[in-house]
Amino acid sequence: MVSLKSEEEIELMKESNRIVSDTLRLLGAHIAPGIETLALDRMAEDFIRSCGAVPAFKGYGGNGRTPAYPATLCVSINEAVVHGIPSRRRLAEGDIVSIDVGTRKNGWFGDGAWTFTVGAVSSVKQRLLDVTRESLFRGIEQARVGNRLYDISYAVQTHVEQHGFSVVRSLVGHGIGRDLHEEPQVPNFGRARTGMKLKAGMTLAIEPMVNMGNAEVVVGEDHWTVQTADGLPSAHFEHTVYISRNGPVLLTNHFVEEYA
Ligand code: MF3
Ligand code: CO
Repeated sequence: MVSLKSEEEIELMKESNRIVSDTLRLLGAHIAPGIETLALDRMAEDFIRSCGAVPAFKGYGGNGRTPAYPATLCVSINEAVVHGIPSRRRLAEGDIVSIDVGTRKNGWFGDGAWTFTVGAVSSVKQRLLDVTRESLFRGIEQARVGNRLYDISYAVQTHVEQHGFSVVRSLVGHGIGRDLHEEPQVPNFGRARTGMKLKAGMTLAIEPMVNMGNAEVVVGEDHWTVQTADGLPSAHFEHTVYISRNGPVLLTNHFVEEYA
């Protein structure tokens, strides 16, 4: 079932999503060659808790055979697509690093991600970041009453493929609210004018994951890190969006002035 949020509920979601974006801005100011990814994780957890929120990914999932997610952030470097676990590894000049942040405050979730450059990166990596970020905003633009769900997906996919990159298909965006993952799933590929009708009050986490090479991914031995099968780099950008009567409204707001 897709839950529609009231305006009061949207205000609560704005708060948890604002904390996500503030965390990403804080981390962005510290990303540089030599920083340990665990240090970023500690900084994020401390900041989120200081805002009266809790990290949403820590303790998520897992079952008898696989571990729950152990950290506040997902930190995915170069060929890691998403769900990279923070570690003693240090960022190095030329890396690209996706940082994904989830929060919960007053029972409402926030979710967002950004891929940062570490020092100077190759022009093809920069192109991958630009195209992935643009595809996110193309998708957001379609998140409006009168459209259908896969209008978002189609907009993302066509922009990515026009530039010769590929969208990951085995991982998707999602509805978000009282749960981190709600219906509907929001794939980054699909046919325009198909899928459910978009309604005012829907809240979606739109999150293109884009590979420089082919779309195949594999899960690492840590049971979490998703990596490209061909070892080529991947990028990931995410915003949480509210579908208002008047069009899409960003609930996360990280780097919007610079890029939207
Ligand atoms: N932004 C990702 C998502 O919404 C991050 C999930 S990490 C997990 O699916 F640990 F919570 F799975
Ligand atoms: Co998400």
